[in-house]
Amino acid sequence: MNNMENIIPHDFHIEKTDRNKSNGHDSFVVWFTGLSGSGKSTIANLVENELFKKGIKTFSLDGDNVRKGLNNNLGFTAGDRQENLRRIAEVAKLFVESGSVIIASFISPLKKDRELIKNIIGEDNFIEVFVNTSLAECERRDVKGLYKKARAGEIKNFTGIDAPYENPANPDLEIKTEEEDLEDALKRIVLHLEDKLKIS
Ligand code: PPS
Repeated sequence: MNNMENIIPHDFHIEKTDRNKSNGHDSFVVWFTGLSGSGKSTIANLVENELFKKGIKTFSLDGDNVRKGLNNNLGFTAGDRQENLRRIAEVAKLFVESGSVIIASFISPLKKDRELIKNIIGEDNFIEVFVNTSLAECERRDVKGLYKKARAGEIKNFTGIDAPYENPANPDLEIKTEEEDLEDALKRIVLHLEDKLKIS
């Protein structure tokens, strides 16, 4: 945060509204939060596919493409997670300015960090989707074998084991993967987004 008083933003001729008009739809962020193994990326992927088929400009941000590149100097302490999420939110904001619908899937475990994300992106451009799968079920699935390692003490600060996950109190959408059929959940999300997209 050095010398911020000497940083004077430039006004660009083409604004978000111009790009949205040219693309024929609005741009915003769909943010999937939930435990590791809750199904965030699977659902996010399907949602992006559906939007892409409709000709919507989309881009996915998730742990793999961000933690291996831009954020490869960050781990899983509370401070590193916050910085991880802050940078992702700033990147997502730029993509929104560029006219894309961003599909973001990150554990984003803390309420205060999700508030920070919403503030950076802007409330009007932010849709929060809580992929609500119980810890017991995520651990039973253990797709990546990480819960087993965390229980054995081989991974520290693992969300749900020795690091917290705070459920969103008021998400725009909640998907209970143990109760709702995946196809039904997908339809529900796409319907919600179609409204927000204002396709012209
Ligand atoms: S966070 O909390 O939002 O900054 O996390 P995120 O960037 O989404 O990264 C989560 C993925 O990293 C793997 N992983 C861990 N998750 C939680 N806790 C610890 N300690 C950890 N170490 C590695 C894990 O595969 C997460 O992927 P998903 O897709 O959520 O299962």
